[in-house]
Amino acid sequence: MSAAPETTTIAVGDDYDVVIGSGVLGRVADLLGADVERVLVVHPPTLPALSGAVSDALRERGYAVHLAEVPDAEAAKTTSVAAGLWAQLGQAGFTRTDAVVGVGGGTVTDLAGFVAASWLRGVRVVQVPTTLLGMVDAAVGGKTGINTAEGKNLVGAFHPPAGVLCDVDVLATLPQADLVAGLAEVVKCGFIADPVILDLVESAVADDPDRARSAANPHLRELIERAVRVKADVVAADLRESSLREILNYGHTFGHAIEQVEHYSWRHGEAVGVGMVYVAELARLAGHLSGPEGDALVDRHRSVLESLGLPTTYAAGRWDELLTTMRRDKKSRGSTLRFVVLDGLARPTRLVGPSDEMLHAAYRLVAGPASAAAH
Ligand SMILES: NC(=O)c1ccc[n+]([C@@H]2O[C@H](COP(=O)([O-])OP(=O)(O)OC[C@H]3O[C@@H](n4cnc5c(N)ncnc54)[C@H](O)[C@@H]3O)[C@@H](O)[C@H]2O)c1
Repeated sequence: MSAAPETTTIAVGDDYDVVIGSGVLGRVADLLGADVERVLVVHPPTLPALSGAVSDALRERGYAVHLAEVPDAEAAKTTSVAAGLWAQLGQAGFTRTDAVVGVGGGTVTDLAGFVAASWLRGVRVVQVPTTLLGMVDAAVGGKTGINTAEGKNLVGAFHPPAGVLCDVDVLATLPQADLVAGLAEVVKCGFIADPVILDLVESAVADDPDRARSAANPHLRELIERAVRVKADVVAADLRESSLREILNYGHTFGHAIEQVEHYSWRHGEAVGVGMVYVAELARLAGHLSGPEGDALVDRHRSVLESLGLPTTYAAGRWDELLTTMRRDKKSRGSTLRFVVLDGLARPTRLVGPSDEMLHAAYRLVAGPASAAAH
C-alpha cells in the first residue's frame, strides 16, 4: 500500500499557498520561489529543534542561512527587536530577492512579516507557524505588525507571505492552554462559515474530552485545514480590512476589550471565546437570532466553548471599562460600535450602533461573579 499524500495545499487567491501536513518542515525551501540566495530564519529561544530543522533543510538546498533568535512571545514585537533584525539584514547584504522565514507562534510571524515588509520596501517572507493560532490565523492573511508603548499592533503593514507551511506535528509540544486558545479561532470559523468544524469538535469531545483539547485530537488536521480555508477564502476576496474581512472579527470587539482591561493576562482565544458568547446574546437581543433555532445556536456557543475548557463568562461590574475600551477599538468607526453577529449558523451580518441598553443587557448575560474573571 502506498503512503497517503502527506500535504494539503490551500491557495489564498492567486497569491500564495498554505501547505499543511505531517513531518513537512523540510519542504520550506519549496515555498521560497526563485532567485533567493540568503534567508534570515527568525525564531524564538523556545524552539531550537524546529528552527534547526528548518535551517538545515534550507542549507541542504544551498541557501545562505542566517539565524535570528528573538525574545519569546510579545517581547519579540518591539521596535528594538525589529531594528536588530534590520541591522542583521544590512550586515549580511540581504537584497530585494532574498527572503525572511518566520518559525514560531503569531508573535514571530507578525515580527518576521513586518521586517520583511519593511526591508528594502518589501522582500519575501515564508511563514512556518508553530502554534495553532499561528496556523489558522496569524500567519495567513498578510497582516503583520509590532507593538509600541501606546498599544498592541499599532505599527504594521499588509504584506502577504510567499507561502505558509503548517506542520501539524509541531503542535505536540505546544502547552495545552495555547492549543485550546487556538481552538477558539477554529470554532469561530465554524460559527461564521463552516459548521462541519463544530460537528468535528463536538464529536471529538464526545469521544474523549481530554484528547479533544490536545494535539492528539483526532480531527486536528482537518480542523486546521477547514479553518485555514475559511480564512483564505475571506482574505483572498478582501486583502485590506474593509467589508468581508470584518467577519473574521466575530467575537473580537468584546474580546479585545477584555484583553485590554486585563492587561493582556488573558490569552487572545480565551477572550474571543467570551466575545463570541457576548455577540450571540447581542444577536438574540437585537432580533437577529430568534425562536428555538436561535436559542439553540446561542446555547451551542456556550456548550462548544465550555467543552473545550474555554471561558464563557466575564467578571461582573466592569461594564464601564469594557464599553470605554470597545469605543476606542481601532476597528470601530467614529464612536459607533459595529459588531459581527449571526442571522443563523454560518450567516454572518453586521449590527451597527446597538443601543447602550442592549449592549449592557448582553453583558449581564455573560457576567460571572464580580470578584474574579472565570478563567
Ligand atoms: N497578523 C494576524 O493576522 C494575527 C492574527 C492573530 C494573532 N496575531 C498575533 O499573534 C500573537 C499571538 O500568537 P501566539 O498565540 O501564537 O503566541 P506566541 O507567538 O507568543 O506563542 C505562544 C508561546 O508558545 C511557544 N511556542 C510556539 N510554538 C511552540 C511549539 N510548537 N511547542 C512549544 N511551544 C511553542 C512560544 O515560544 C510562546 O511562548 C499576538 O501577538 C497577536 O497579535 C496576529
